[in-house]
Amino acid sequence: MLVSAKEMLEKAKAGKYAVGQFNINNLEWTKAALLAAQECNSPIILGVSEGAGKYMTGFKTVAAMVKAMVEELKITVPVALHLDHGTYEGCYKCIEAGFSSIMFDGSHYPIEENVEKTKELVKVCAEKGMSLEAEVGSIGGEEDGVVGAGECADPNECKMVADLGVTMLAAGIGNIHGKYPANWQGLSFETLDAIQKLTGDMPLVLHGGTGIPEDMIKKAISLGVAKINVNTECQLSFAAATRKYVEEGKDLQGKGFDPRKLLAPGAEAIKATVKEKMELFGSVNRA
Ligand code: 13P
Repeated sequence: MLVSAKEMLEKAKAGKYAVGQFNINNLEWTKAALLAAQECNSPIILGVSEGAGKYMTGFKTVAAMVKAMVEELKITVPVALHLDHGTYEGCYKCIEAGFSSIMFDGSHYPIEENVEKTKELVKVCAEKGMSLEAEVGSIGGEEDGVVGAGECADPNECKMVADLGVTMLAAGIGNIHGKYPANWQGLSFETLDAIQKLTGDMPLVLHGGTGIPEDMIKKAISLGVAKINVNTECQLSFAAATRKYVEEGKDLQGKGFDPRKLLAPGAEAIKATVKEKMELFGSVNRA
């Protein structure tokens, strides 16, 4: 069964650790992430961008696959299936498809419109028992065609959106999707601190988890971050392991071309990355 992310994030915020959101792309990805969570006895949020949802033939396919996989793999840790950077229309599609959590990314709208649409979705999600993530201040870089300038959020706007009754709040604090450039200035802990002071118990979300140094991750958690999103790092691990398998000519030995063999090192690499992050975020044995 899929659960809303509310309880796991409230526990994380109170316990000063973070739950990882790991974005999925296909069956292997989903299986690797779920097995890693079970082995770590950690709650997990599976993130699905609109692009990934489309790639997997639609949100209904994704919801059906994840629900069945949780059952068939006998996963007992809490699992939330979450839309990542959803459009207004995408949110309604995922509600209908049976997701347990959504993110409405209204950060590109004027704040009044972001508030209006978020408010409406708070009501719908409450009726369905789903969790809702809102965003203020865009996350830099590009993810699946969603491009953000990466400005720091205004703490007062964060309070305004947090007060609407969302479950979790993503706020730009200098974080970027994808790899960080060499001249990256780092996270703005000043902004994070100001947001946390105004939003109190609200679980804060750190996007762009790939490549953020460990000490910054730990400091962000100490300042109220309770959910950290990781996407690119699993993609890089998968690609490197698959490249190694092919470069070593293993696909040419025996039945090494069998997709179950060809994709196995990549899947194992995703699993290892997810476990490493769960250790770092402190969510191990918190299921
Ligand atoms: P990365 O791809 O940088 O890990 O970011 C993931 C993310 O924030 C998903 O919303």
